[in-house]
Amino acid sequence: MSTPKSDLRIAIDGAGLLRRLGELALVSEAPAPVVTRVLFSEADARGREYVRRAAREAGLAVREDPVGNIFARWEGSDPGLPAVGSGSHTDAIPNAGRYDGVVGVLGAFEALAALKRAGFSPRRSLEVVMFTAEEPTRFGLGCLGSRLMAGSISVERAQALRDREGRTLDELRAAAGYSGPLQSVRLPPGYYHAFVELHIEQGPILEAEGIPIGIVEHIAGPSSYRVTLHGEGGHAGAVLMPVRHDASLAGAEIALAVERAAKTSGSPDTVGTVGVFRIEPGAVNSVPFKAYLEIDLRDARLDTRSRALAEIRGAAEEACARRGIRMEFEEINADPPAAGDPKTVAIVERVCAELGLRSLRMVSRAYHDSLFMARVSPTTIIFIPCRNGWSHRPEEYAAPGHIASGAEVLAHTLARLAT
Ligand code: GLV
Ligand code: MN
Ligand code: MN
Repeated sequence: MSTPKSDLRIAIDGAGLLRRLGELALVSEAPAPVVTRVLFSEADARGREYVRRAAREAGLAVREDPVGNIFARWEGSDPGLPAVGSGSHTDAIPNAGRYDGVVGVLGAFEALAALKRAGFSPRRSLEVVMFTAEEPTRFGLGCLGSRLMAGSISVERAQALRDREGRTLDELRAAAGYSGPLQSVRLPPGYYHAFVELHIEQGPILEAEGIPIGIVEHIAGPSSYRVTLHGEGGHAGAVLMPVRHDASLAGAEIALAVERAAKTSGSPDTVGTVGVFRIEPGAVNSVPFKAYLEIDLRDARLDTRSRALAEIRGAAEEACARRGIRMEFEEINADPPAAGDPKTVAIVERVCAELGLRSLRMVSRAYHDSLFMARVSPTTIIFIPCRNGWSHRPEEYAAPGHIASGAEVLAHTLARLAT
């Protein structure tokens, strides 16, 4: 039971929240402890059903938009005022853990339920969002739901997205039961008074420092690129080395160039990854005639990210020219970094101080739906520690005490913002 400053006595049901995290973790395309819930898969559909039920159990009214963003609302006494938002995602990349995103959805339900139990009555409406497809797994583009909400992607571009099987967003959302114009997903201006996401840190700093709460002041800007390399195939025994145009080797040079450019950019926040690397025909006795790479390049600063990209492109063009490979290099997305709202950051900081919880202002190197909410609303993220900074793997773990503290800080913060 906590009572900072205001006389609001908030008691987070930590055991109930943990139970729900465990239940949703079992909704997966892969056996436990692996969590895989790819957008519009059968597991995603069951996950959505779980989220709707949990929202109703928390006493919230549920609505969904045409791309499948789920909104769970507690109407304020002055419902005409811009609402206070919270939330995150429940989709999970292949071979993920149970906390990424989910803590921010189920944790926000628990924060609102605890506020109800405490007898709090919000002036502004409080709304929890489960954003569609924060993860880029299906369409190669992350934060699809929040991007559309913020108007950061055109409807035409969203409709041009294709998954690996060539299926479109319109086809897949219709099959999942979502209809209506994508234009209507965009939030009206000033819809949120403030937005606060709860999320595991996905990095090692809070754990190493022994600090239970991080408060995000900057979110690094992600970018990603698709590189297709066309070489010449042939028999691995018969085609002699001097006359080869091996697409996989050009790809290997590009992957190393990504590492080099990120390490030497001059910014400690530049990170570059080649997380997709496919070659064709993929036979041991055949020279690869085609390679396909996806590059993820991020930075809290745009200038150093742009320099790193120029270096990668230069190295890729040089390697392809030397090897006689034709290259297509396309941008998937290049999002600017976002800043946390100083006033909202200060409110979270004050709540932590009043609860006797140490906090630390931080950069989020992972992206979150808050990257897009920050474009349309004052925004910050509350981080909690996770073991070894692990995320996007089944060993992802956040301690029950930290999860409860995160939900408690969120509840007090939302109460202040909604008053
Ligand atoms: C989000 O999951 C990211 O890749 O940062
Ligand atoms: Mn993730
Ligand atoms: Mn996440």
